[in-house]
Amino acid sequence: MSFIVAIDGPAGSGKGTITKLLGEKFNLINIDTGAMYRCVALACLENNISYTQLDKIEQLLENIDIKLEKNQDKQIILLNGEDVSAKIRTTEVDEVVAKFSALKIVRNKMTPLQRKMGEENNIIMEGRDIGTVVFPNADVKIFLDCSLEERAKRRYKQNIEKGISCSYDEVLESIKERHLLETKREIAPFIKAEDAIYIDSTNMTINEVVNKLSDIIKEKIH
Ligand code: DC
Repeated sequence: MSFIVAIDGPAGSGKGTITKLLGEKFNLINIDTGAMYRCVALACLENNISYTQLDKIEQLLENIDIKLEKNQDKQIILLNGEDVSAKIRTTEVDEVVAKFSALKIVRNKMTPLQRKMGEENNIIMEGRDIGTVVFPNADVKIFLDCSLEERAKRRYKQNIEKGISCSYDEVLESIKERHLLETKREIAPFIKAEDAIYIDSTNMTINEVVNKLSDIIKEKIH
């Protein structure tokens, strides 16, 4: 039986960094399920397929090949053999990914792939529905929350550092809109599993969150 840690949280909660650090610390394979949904959105964008063209999406999903691999300590995302680690993080993908990830046909393809990854390895998996849908029986379930304003502040800072021009208000609006889409969708909405441990990272540093989660994992891993 593999050991499974499920981390659900919104974009900007720091869960990517935290999951990576915890994966290294406890020797768990780190699986970013958001990256998988981003691959679907990217593949559709590149083939000029909109989220309303369900037949075309279904066809595309039949042959899609998504792999998460380690390359010299860094995780890379391969879409049909191409390293798309950078391409899946563009604002174009940001803008449409929540529409694609709300689709039943997309989730029906991704969820079994994610479960398979957990059957074969000890993992730490991050996303929105890991504790509720993908691994409801995970050994550790965390719901990592963070206020909208703090998430917008972090994303705004990231954008400015990357040279992307934007205003704080624009970023806040776009984060709000995506949050609504993710929490109100019909299938696998982003909600806390009843038995998940709730942590609010708004006023915590990455280190503080890692330490807190480490204590929780340590209790369960032996
Ligand atoms: O965590 P992220 O921002 O990279 O996620 C990208 C998108 O995928 C976002 O719209 C939420 C969605 N997602 C999801 O619906 N279910 C998951 N398990 C992970 C991500």
